[in-house]
Amino acid sequence: MKTGKVLITGANGLLGQAVVSIFSRESDLTLIQTSVEKDPFVDYGIDYHKLNITNKEEVKEAVKMHSPDVILNCAAFTDVDKCETERELCWRLNVDAVKNLIIGSRVNNCKLVHISTDYIFDGKSGPYTETEIPNPISYYGRSKLASENALTASGINFAIARTMVLYGLGVKVKPNFALWLINKLSEKEPVRIVKDQIGNSTLVDDLAYGLLRLIESDKTGIYNLAGRDIESRYDFAMTVCDVFSFDKKLVSSIVTTELNQPAPRPLNSGLITLKAETELGFKPMNSLDGLRLLKHQLGL
Ligand SMILES: NC(=O)c1ccc[n+]([C@@H]2O[C@H](COP(=O)([O-])OP(=O)(O)OC[C@H]3O[C@@H](n4cnc5c(N)ncnc54)[C@H](OP(=O)(O)O)[C@@H]3O)[C@@H](O)[C@H]2O)c1
Repeated sequence: MKTGKVLITGANGLLGQAVVSIFSRESDLTLIQTSVEKDPFVDYGIDYHKLNITNKEEVKEAVKMHSPDVILNCAAFTDVDKCETERELCWRLNVDAVKNLIIGSRVNNCKLVHISTDYIFDGKSGPYTETEIPNPISYYGRSKLASENALTASGINFAIARTMVLYGLGVKVKPNFALWLINKLSEKEPVRIVKDQIGNSTLVDDLAYGLLRLIESDKTGIYNLAGRDIESRYDFAMTVCDVFSFDKKLVSSIVTTELNQPAPRPLNSGLITLKAETELGFKPMNSLDGLRLLKHQLGL
């Protein structure tokens, strides 16, 4: 199966890098869009172009010039706590920019594949299927739900992949939970990990593979693409200790309110991936195998 010509936004991000790596081996990938300022961190010998997706005219011009079959939007404002205070920027990138991509897709008759999150839910009754009613409790969650709504109302050909708690390797990416934890514990620093946030940590390579399957199979609508294990952050941390042989006594369990984070978190969350498993052949790793692979990738 083929993906057609894919234009990737946010190619320097955690997901963007994994997607570029997997798609460049597999598909007729001809074009990558990087972020606003930086050169590509990883060079797969593919065309990189700069594009600020918050600029409507730039987006229209880029889509017209490169004429992709699919736009895969990996760009977003992903700092959940900063979204509470930098609301204008959050909305510009997570909502208005998606509307720009919708316009670009409509004018050029291409498909738009977008990434969303479990943060569109309130975390009162997870894990969630694709059909459950969203109720975001943070500004980030509201912005991501607004982007989903813009797509569903647009009339264009689209797909949305919902995911959560990404972990994995990337060059110069912002620290993700697993890497932060490995870093702290390898320095023998004690950490306090929440026991009351439940969900599926997702190896970024698994998500990238799921997106490849989603695009190759030309499916539309919403798909949950997340890791296999639905567990607390504390239990995930215990698996990190097992895999990396860290001292479990360094990890103490706390509850989310003790962290005083600016953005509320959906606590009893998680994404049920049965639809993607059945329709796309998505086979996400459990935490043990995902962390073993990460250990191998880290050369440890
Ligand atoms: N990380 C998670 O745990 C998680 C969980 C659920 C859902 N998601 C979703 O998954 C997707 C990917 O997340 P991620 O963690 O890979 O994000 P990330 O590492 O923060 O990367 C985001 C990318 O967006 C780019 N970007 C920012 N502003 C831009 C602009 N104006 N024009 C073009 N590109 C711009 C960034 O470039 P610079 O680096 O140059 O700024 C960066 O490459 C997002 O939609 C996110 O909401 C992530």
